[in-house]
Amino acid sequence: MIIAITGTPGAGKTTIAKLLSERLNYVYVDLKDFAVSNGLGEAQGDEIAIDIKRLPEVAREKLEKKDVVVDGHLSHFIPADVVVVLRIDPRVLAKRLEGRGYSRAKIADNVEAELIDLILVEALEKSDSVIEVDSTGKGPEEVVEEILRLIGNGIKKRVGVVDWTTYYDDIVQYLHVREGDENH
Ligand SMILES: Nc1ncnc2c1ncn2[C@@H]1O[C@H](COP(=O)(O)OP(=O)(O)OP(=O)(O)O)[C@@H](O)[C@H]1O
Ligand SMILES: [Mg+2]
Repeated sequence: MIIAITGTPGAGKTTIAKLLSERLNYVYVDLKDFAVSNGLGEAQGDEIAIDIKRLPEVAREKLEKKDVVVDGHLSHFIPADVVVVLRIDPRVLAKRLEGRGYSRAKIADNVEAELIDLILVEALEKSDSVIEVDSTGKGPEEVVEEILRLIGNGIKKRVGVVDWTTYYDDIVQYLHVREGDENH
């Protein structure tokens, strides 16, 4: 079975994917490493641009019938049996990304993506089996237990568990400042 762990950068994918793969005794696959070793990754400054067009086909060929947990914010583009979308309160995400020393612009990009359910919507466009899990205030073990329970119960789809717009007033400070607004 292929389990994809996706979510906004900083949502906790690597932490959860590694723990989940240990619990299931599945192979852990870092999507960036997978892309690079299969000629689907191109260095773009510090980052790697993944060839999203060829990714699904290559992933099918290399991972089909294997038991893997694939970690990456583009992992919903691979043909996975289950796509887990990890969610995190944008206010917590902003603090986490600040702690990583990310620029204001990069924090704004990611906080906005989380606020508007960007990855969830993309995942739903690509897959019929999408499980959304809110990790806010939960330890990694607890999140993994929740994923195992949902998959174990044969749940194919579970979405709509969060609505970050409730916290919009607290989140807006992290979003992009419009041009010309800087002095207001
Ligand atoms: N459930 C959790 N509870 C508390 N902290 C967590 C949890 N999951 C992850 N973290 C912490 O959040 C930070 C980011 O986690 P992680 O690196 O796993 O995110 P990521 O989604 O893989 O990020 P990236 O997209 O940049 O690879 C880490 O410091 C990690 O310890
Ligand atoms: Mg990661």
